[in-house]
Amino acid sequence: MGRAPIVSRAAHLLLAIGALALALALSLPSAQAADKEKPVKRDYAAMGVLAAPAPANQSIADMDAKSEGCLTCHVKTDAPTMHVTPAVRLGCTDCHGGNPSIAGNSQLPHDHPDYVAARDTAHVLPTLPKSWYWPSSANPKRTYALLNKESPEYVKFVNPSDYRVAREACGSCHIQAIEAAERSIMATGAMLWGGASYNNGILPFKNYLLGEAYTRNGKPAKITTPTRPGEGLTPAQEKRGVLAEMYPLPTWHVIPPGDVFRVFERGGRTINSQFPEIGLPNTTGRIQILEEQIGRAHV
Ligand code: HEC
Ligand code: HEC
Ligand code: HEC
Repeated sequence: MGRAPIVSRAAHLLLAIGALALALALSLPSAQAADKEKPVKRDYAAMGVLAAPAPANQSIADMDAKSEGCLTCHVKTDAPTMHVTPAVRLGCTDCHGGNPSIAGNSQLPHDHPDYVAARDTAHVLPTLPKSWYWPSSANPKRTYALLNKESPEYVKFVNPSDYRVAREACGSCHIQAIEAAERSIMATGAMLWGGASYNNGILPFKNYLLGEAYTRNGKPAKITTPTRPGEGLTPAQEKRGVLAEMYPLPTWHVIPPGDVFRVFERGGRTINSQFPEIGLPNTTGRIQILEEQIGRAHV
């Protein structure tokens, strides 16, 4: 009886180590793909795939020229400008970028060398092709941090409405919507980071000041609420919860354990599922003694 728990604890430990090793083995390939892939250098200007920001107005001839090559392969679409109204005049490259003068032959199989060559000259190519599983356009499972490492030109190609590039693709007509949306709680996640940091005693502020925002190049950005120079928020703004500024999340440094087996050594008298007791100046150990007595009573 006295030995049984020790044996089962050892078995649990082995199972836990096995699970940990399995988890590491499973998570490594995908994590490494994004972290370790060396970016391919691309001279987008020389490749002829850069496009000026979408203009608010243009002639129909200009608009058509910016879609010409794309439409040889992308033959059918519900609304070629992505807007139903004919009042909006936009070519594919106004939003996506790419080279619209390259024509493809849609009769060829998609793996035909001529078709592939045309596709890859017309498209904006990623700097991290392996991480994106390029040339497949199916998105990888987690593109979140990957988007920050990729070039803004490619981000714009796959999603012109991404906030890193939306000013270029949509800004000439929708700048107010973009500015409001960038500051919205849906984009910053302020409620989550603020709640979590306050409730866990990391930051003492009930008016949140952490939120997510990124520059065009995927660097963490601070957001400020525009106010008149020298003036802060008005009392009315403060009352309805407007925040003056919002900072990026601080980086969280995790140091790998020196010896992976010792992470299971929690120290202290009792070993429970809470935080380890290593270094806690608990000289009397009263709670632990109490727990041991209860434990013994159960045996
Ligand atoms: C030679 C044919 C061809 C031409 C020309 C072409 N495309 Fe494509 N495009 C494709 C094919 C095929 C795919 C799908 C790739 C896949 O998933 O295998 C694609 C995918 C895309 C995607 C999704 C990419 C992703 O990774 O999510 C966008 C956006 C796109 N094309 C825009 C354009 C634009 C804009 C142009 C003109 C500048 C253009 N294409 C010209 C064949 C072409
Ligand atoms: C008003 C700007 C705009 C214009 C003009 C436009 N697109 Fe798009 N396109 C977008 C946005 C925004 C998306 C959605 C991206 C997403 O959901 O991630 C998109 C999605 C796509 C996709 C799917 C991308 C993917 O990763 O699955 C393809 C392919 C595409 N567009 C091709 C074209 C072609 C070809 C034209 C021209 C005929 C064109 N687009 C014109 C804004 C535009
Ligand atoms: C050339 C100007 C122009 C550009 C550039 C443009 N849009 Fe628009 N967009 C309009 C206009 C005008 C309307 C209103 C159309 C209507 O009411 O029929 C509109 C409507 C919309 C709507 C519907 C809004 C609503 O209230 O129903 C969405 C969503 C939208 N655009 C998204 C985008 C995105 C995303 C981009 C960039 C990738 C973009 N637009 C680029 C002019 C533009």
